[in-house]
Amino acid sequence: MNKDTLKKAAAEKAVEEIESGMTIGLGTGSTAYFAIIKIAELIKEGRLKNIKAIPTSKQTEELARENNIPLTTFAESSCIDITIDGADEVDRKLNLIKGGGGALLREKVVAQSTKKNIIVVDESKLSENLGDNFFVPVEVLEYALEPEKKFLQELGALVKIRRDIENKIFKTDENNIILDCTFGSINEPADLNKQLNERAGIVGHGLFIELASKVIVASEEKGIFTLENK
Ligand code: A5P
Repeated sequence: MNKDTLKKAAAEKAVEEIESGMTIGLGTGSTAYFAIIKIAELIKEGRLKNIKAIPTSKQTEELARENNIPLTTFAESSCIDITIDGADEVDRKLNLIKGGGGALLREKVVAQSTKKNIIVVDESKLSENLGDNFFVPVEVLEYALEPEKKFLQELGALVKIRRDIENKIFKTDENNIILDCTFGSINEPADLNKQLNERAGIVGHGLFIELASKVIVASEEKGIFTLENK
């Protein structure tokens, strides 16, 4: 089974939780993509009615528009019932690293405004400790690039400025810069979360602590299973 088949299976399982009349958050990335396509299909068939969606990136907004998913804003709908989004890494406590696709800031805004955050992943995203398999994306103001880079290096990270496919400095939807920070295995992600939150020049980062309500995992051997905090 290839990875896309697993991603699609996890994403479509999550979509089963959406009911007519809900306000939903649409995630970003290759796994959330399959959820968005499925939601569009159910709306088109009339099996989901009165859905309003808030996208987590410009890319997702475009995908939702192309597929005729009705969009709303925080001004109109302040509370989101369910958000379905992917993740780059998931630990045993369901803490996450996100932002591989660069949408971490809007993703966290949406997650913090959502009653039930469902994360959809294939099994390769699971790890013992955050940082075992992925770096932490840190979004910084361009103005603060040098001091925040220095701060992150002093915390022990190997820091790389993210570049796009043309090798230009990658700019987020909010026109900020991303520093991809390799910390190695992070023993206390909640502590690092706090340290990053305290910096004025860091506008967002990919550590999502205690934000996932459940994680739906698709595995080649075990099929689809759900991880939930007790
Ligand atoms: C986007 O910025 C990310 O947070 C994605 O949700 C994350 O990178 C997972 O993406 P994939 O589903 O494409 O692996």
